[in-house]
Amino acid sequence: MSTSFTLDTSTSRANPTPTPMKRLTVPAIRARKVDGVTAEPIVMLTAYTARQAQLLDPHCDMLLVGDSLGQVIYGLPSTIPVTLDMMANHAAAVVRGSYHSVVVVDMPFGAYEASPEAAFEAAATLLKASNAAAVKLEGGAAMAETVAFLVQRGIPVMGHVGLTPQAVNVLGGYGARGRSDAEADKIVSDAKALCDAGAFAIVVEGVVEPIAIAVTEAVSCPTIGIGASAQCDGQVLVTEDMLGMFERVPRFVKRYDDMAGLIRRTAETYAAEVRERSFPGPEQTYQPK
Ligand code: KIV
Repeated sequence: MSTSFTLDTSTSRANPTPTPMKRLTVPAIRARKVDGVTAEPIVMLTAYTARQAQLLDPHCDMLLVGDSLGQVIYGLPSTIPVTLDMMANHAAAVVRGSYHSVVVVDMPFGAYEASPEAAFEAAATLLKASNAAAVKLEGGAAMAETVAFLVQRGIPVMGHVGLTPQAVNVLGGYGARGRSDAEADKIVSDAKALCDAGAFAIVVEGVVEPIAIAVTEAVSCPTIGIGASAQCDGQVLVTEDMLGMFERVPRFVKRYDDMAGLIRRTAETYAAEVRERSFPGPEQTYQPK
């Protein structure tokens, strides 16, 4: 289990954050949507490590320690095997590396579905271990009682509707949701139930655009889209997808760069220099005084 050290900027390889910014709060995020309108879209990215958090923090309103880390960092086949300890440790690292963004941590599969009490135990464990500000959980109306239970006990909750990856075995895959009228109606009513229960924001993932817009219009709290619509109140992407770390990405991902290519090219250059004994050079070796 993690402990909440602060990032020691004298020993970190990274430069300290020059001017530590005041951290945003959950109520401030919630208050960005006024009378159904969010003037400035909310920016959220996933972060799993302290250094990643340091680099992303100044540009984001929220950092999500997503359970996507199971696939992205650990090479797992889905998010289902992700544990509470994994989430707590990565969340603590992200909090250590950030000063500004609201840090939201995903509740892993199996930690919260059984009862509101079980959810409270798991959420309290995550927040105590990491100092994150809020938890996220997947599911719609069936989770509304749990959301209310947590919020009434001091734990801010972000909802997640539409394509909910932890339910992949029930959904039968990762395809876009909301293509039938019944499915579309359910996504909208799920989002309303979560918002009425006190969720401060709701991720809307992998739904056809008109449904994302309908959800955004139907709920008073901000919606955060991923594979949804630019008309959502904010957007989130998995940072490694945004950076181009993977060749195979969902259709809704925009690869802003080619980080995989950069790593491959750099490793190739390093390997060649080692093999021809040109690394380390005089600048990287110690000589007697
Ligand atoms: O786990 C995650 O990264 C997520 C986002 C895709 C919303 O839930």
